[in-house]
Amino acid sequence: MRRCDELGCISEEKWRLTRTFASLAMREANALVGSWMREAGLAVREDAAFNLIGRQVSKRRGAKTVLIGSHLDTVRNAGKYDGPLGVLLGVALAARLRDVALPFHLEVVGFSDEEGVRYQTTYLGSRAMLGLLTKKDVQTIEEKGIEKARRPRREFLAYLEAHIEQGPVLEAQNQPLAVVTAIAGQTRISVEFTGQAGHAGTTPMRLRRDALCGAAELILAAEKIGVIATVGQCEVAPGASNVIPGLVSLTLDVRDGSDARRKAACAKLKRTALRIAKRRGLRLHDWCIVQETPSIRMDPAMTRVLHRAVGRGVPALPSGAGHDAAVMARACPAAMLFVRCKGGVSHHPDESVQTSDVARALDALTKVILELADRHD
Ligand code: HGY
Ligand code: MN
Ligand code: MN
Repeated sequence: MRRCDELGCISEEKWRLTRTFASLAMREANALVGSWMREAGLAVREDAAFNLIGRQVSKRRGAKTVLIGSHLDTVRNAGKYDGPLGVLLGVALAARLRDVALPFHLEVVGFSDEEGVRYQTTYLGSRAMLGLLTKKDVQTIEEKGIEKARRPRREFLAYLEAHIEQGPVLEAQNQPLAVVTAIAGQTRISVEFTGQAGHAGTTPMRLRRDALCGAAELILAAEKIGVIATVGQCEVAPGASNVIPGLVSLTLDVRDGSDARRKAACAKLKRTALRIAKRRGLRLHDWCIVQETPSIRMDPAMTRVLHRAVGRGVPALPSGAGHDAAVMARACPAAMLFVRCKGGVSHHPDESVQTSDVARALDALTKVILELADRHD
């Protein structure tokens, strides 16, 4: 818990916690967490995609690797547990098992870009590790050579991630932990309306082509579209109080457990945007799907192991939030453990967890790794 506090002070912004892909703050975070990994007896390296990896080598010939971890990057004005808690639980677990001869290598990983704040290309770190980067990813990002982080998938035996729930269910049910059943799919879209900038005092209302009024209609349509939809960013140009907005760019974040429902909602929003543009004499200048991740179930067998480890009566919940487990599950059996967070608050500095819940999570993760070791043997 103290480590979460210390790591939470490493930010690229003065008054709030923000750590984005490959920034100086991320390098500093990797150096600090790397030092704790070394204290836990792990061999530490940073791969070509800036993922931090701590490895406990097994003596077993031909051993494969079990990964446990989460991400070290954050959103803007973040809380200090979304991501780091899962990485630091992995470090604490490795310290606990440092003298246990496991039949697989144990790797604790701090992924470098789960949130995708810098380039809107989420999961850059985990996708680089699995060779799932697109040409567009590689063209978009300044940092070159991240595809060299790719590792053969046959190496991976399993992936385990502990993460705050980022929702209110566990608190409402007075439960410290939950097992995750599936991760909702998500689509991130960049949208741009162009209209006509003009004088706010002399242009008659009926003659305007106001890009922001058009964007506002789309934002309210997204709110009612029937799936989880959010406009988190909206930029207005030229951005003066006495000038009619001529250009507005916004981001759309659309999620659902069903890929078909999510895609249908995105298509409906695009039709709505075109209708709004036509009626208002605007141009829908850009409607670009920047990133799309399908929904994915956690591995049933691994989830049963996790369920046994956390004990009876623990709820099983789907995750509305995305996680690196959504990527790793495409290469090996993956399971996720949720930890209760106060008020379900996340992506906000008020994010907080109870030490006793975190201790329970560590015990559960320990049991999972030991059971995987038994079964693997
Ligand atoms: O946006 C998400 O679901 C996650 O926090 N990246
Ligand atoms: Mn997050
Ligand atoms: Mn997260």
